[in-house]
Amino acid sequence: MISEHPILSVRSLSEPQPAGLKSFLERSSTDCSFYGSGKAALYDGLAGLVDAGDNVLVPAYLPDAVVEPLTELGLETRYYRLQEDLAPDLADVERRLDDETVAVMSVNYFGFPQPGLEEFISLIDEYDCYHIDDNAHSPISVDNGVLLGTRGDLGVTSLWKLLPIPDGAVLYCNDDTVAEQVVPSSFAGVQSQFGGDDCRFLLKSVVASLLETNETIHRSVDAFVASRGPSRSVPGPVARYEAGKKPMSKLSAHVVEHADPRTIRDARRENYLAWHRIFDTRQDAETLYESLPEGICPQVFPIRAATPHRLLEDLERCGVDGAHTWPRLSSTVLESSTYDVSTTLSREVLVLPVHQHVESATIEAVGDRLP
Ligand SMILES: Cc1ncc(COP(=O)(O)O)c(C=O)c1O
Repeated sequence: MISEHPILSVRSLSEPQPAGLKSFLERSSTDCSFYGSGKAALYDGLAGLVDAGDNVLVPAYLPDAVVEPLTELGLETRYYRLQEDLAPDLADVERRLDDETVAVMSVNYFGFPQPGLEEFISLIDEYDCYHIDDNAHSPISVDNGVLLGTRGDLGVTSLWKLLPIPDGAVLYCNDDTVAEQVVPSSFAGVQSQFGGDDCRFLLKSVVASLLETNETIHRSVDAFVASRGPSRSVPGPVARYEAGKKPMSKLSAHVVEHADPRTIRDARRENYLAWHRIFDTRQDAETLYESLPEGICPQVFPIRAATPHRLLEDLERCGVDGAHTWPRLSSTVLESSTYDVSTTLSREVLVLPVHQHVESATIEAVGDRLP
């Protein structure tokens, strides 16, 4: 099975590891601090810079919960349109900017740099507002020698999307004024003790490893889950935001300290290229990014599918249960025809796992079996 996320191996927790991710992040940025989630980090990054009633521009192609910290800060969220290649529609951005705009967000989707960033930054500079570099997807992607997430006045990155950990994110303050304004809230930093969440996560990891290695147990559990009817629904955006408002867990901090960014990047790149070879020749899907520039660590392999649900079913039959459409958009975006490009993308873009615990040979075998 190719699962969505990597699994924490309990043995790896006690093995000596090469120089880790924590020191890599600290070396590559001027000011970085840890949080439980990217959304919580965004709250702290903005809190000292804004007044209630200000507005923030964010791309329409964005998971619904990301704007919850803005709402909590009393800010108005203004979604701007994207183009098919995920570059901001600059005319639309400019239409929405006004004297109350305090910040504008760009997103490095799927581990790749935001297309059209240079023109976007010039526009933001003209209007003298803060630039948020949302790098939730790509904690270790480096573009022309610069770590993604560190190109705005402030930036966030989600470590839990890269590593097998229960939570974890980083706030970057790349501007001295921004750094001086941050007053760390109760959910900043790292927890001092191992907690219940760590134990639950470890237990889940042990069970997941067992399922990965034993097909018979996997099939029995699948059959049992299916017999219990539809799974419980995903919590709403507010609940997901609130759940992330806590310091990063001690287990996450341990893994972040010891994980080796180079090994992870190499493995993810190899897996990305394995999917690329498969989809290069298929007519039912287009790859979103034609090349994989040096330094980029893909979060997933994104494709645009002609018949997304059919392809998802085929992938699942071939052992890929971690593929899905992305993202769950906000109702404001879904309900307005202005955002038709983002809405269509959210229906047609599938993201396939490339994480470091998948072997590229397993992906190649899926390619051989796909109809
Ligand atoms: C583009 C983007 N930004 C921000 C976030 C929020 O990150 P976190 O889940 O760590 O709060 C996500 C989460 O999916 C995301 O996809």
